[in-house]
Amino acid sequence: MAQTKAKISVIQIGTLLVFVVGNGSYLARDPDLEDQENTTLFQFPSVDPIPLPAPVWLFKLLGDVTLVLHFLAMQLLVGSLTLATVWNFLGKKHSVRRDGSDAVIRKVPTLMTYVINFGVPPLLFSQVLYGRALYTSSVLIGFYWISVIVVLTLTYFLLYKCADRANSGRAWWGYSLLSWVGVVYIAKIFSINMTLMLRPEAWQPLYQASGGLGMIFPTGDPSTTPRFLFMLAGGFGLSGAGLLFLSTFGNEKPEVAGFLRKWGGIFAAGFLALEMAAGVWVYRVQPAVVQDGIMSGTLTSSALWAWAVFTVLAVVASLIAAFWGKTGSKILAATAILFGALGTAGFVVVRDGIRDLTLLSKGFDVWQRTVVSNWSVVLLFLALFVGGLALIGFLLVLVARSAKQIANQTAVAAFAGEADLQNLMEEEDDQ
Ligand code: HEM
Repeated sequence: MAQTKAKISVIQIGTLLVFVVGNGSYLARDPDLEDQENTTLFQFPSVDPIPLPAPVWLFKLLGDVTLVLHFLAMQLLVGSLTLATVWNFLGKKHSVRRDGSDAVIRKVPTLMTYVINFGVPPLLFSQVLYGRALYTSSVLIGFYWISVIVVLTLTYFLLYKCADRANSGRAWWGYSLLSWVGVVYIAKIFSINMTLMLRPEAWQPLYQASGGLGMIFPTGDPSTTPRFLFMLAGGFGLSGAGLLFLSTFGNEKPEVAGFLRKWGGIFAAGFLALEMAAGVWVYRVQPAVVQDGIMSGTLTSSALWAWAVFTVLAVVASLIAAFWGKTGSKILAATAILFGALGTAGFVVVRDGIRDLTLLSKGFDVWQRTVVSNWSVVLLFLALFVGGLALIGFLLVLVARSAKQIANQTAVAAFAGEADLQNLMEEEDDQ
């Protein structure tokens, strides 16, 4: 007994070191620990002695809700940036393609704001619940993980540059191509980290191979590629639905709106169908214990069905909008984006289930935490959270209204300009 306690305290001291020094030294080999290291459970650092201030289910609920918002913004960003870049590259000045790309890129910096702001809360919730796994994987790819901040800042700057150039009628695809590379890099690093955190068996070899520098990517996980493709395909698909939405609820010229509707619908249908194929791939590469757990769990299996049904409905609505719908058809555009978003909510729940089941199979049970709820703080947080979301909704309505006003004023000014020109030409003819 005393010997076991001594062994555990050695692990705890090691764990403390990794957080203080940040170099994963708790993985250093101690001959006495050989046996324990062979069992996966002991790859996890010790649990934080401070109890959780709220129940696990509440952290998971808040994490999933905010992650849905992060994924919606992120998917819209990835896809619309790609499409807009291609159109800007191909479109000649004053062509519908060029105008369409300008219309889209002007919205992208705002999307980035939401990607970041809706990314922070789920990161905090995940760290609270899965810190023992997530901190470890983050340290193991530390160089790339930290580089996300630098790349993100540059990418954000480039997006503003694109929007500025679009406003002054200049081409901007070179800048957006660079920012696209940044965005895809960040997406890839997130995918790598979120899969590495599920593989405690890979941590020690990776640490040894990288010499503690955090500069080597993990290999050998069959789920990383399908998972990344799933996110990318979903991004293009949801962005297509977003363009449909913009074609109807935006303030674009009729020919630009028609262009956005057609291509938005085609992209949404095609890529959401691809997302489904990638989803099946993600499922099939999971170990049997995870597949069984997903199918037998009420929440996860219902979420899986919800994802499949809503995505099919979004594909159908997008196809109708692209080929048979009229430009300005509000119902089709709203249906496509709504079903797309509900599909995203479905896969976030399944994704959460995959993580819990995988970690459980390796000895980490997220539900086994000491909870000492501090309800006054929790209620204050919830009030601020709901208030914050309401405020964001209010701001969005204000922005949409003022965009409409500006578009109307520009149209009136352009109409007046054309009328003046017409009068001038008529006067010249008379003379
Ligand atoms: C251009 C910027 C970004 C892109 C393209 C992006 C993309 C992604 C992708 C693809 C995933 C899914 C990874 C997977 O499960 O395979 C993800 C997850 C996540 N991202 Fe982002 N992300 C961006 C910025 C951010 C930022 C700035 C934060 C927070 C500060 C953030 C927080 C998160 C969190 C918390 C998760 C999932 C965590 C979990 O599963 O618990 N992201 N992101």
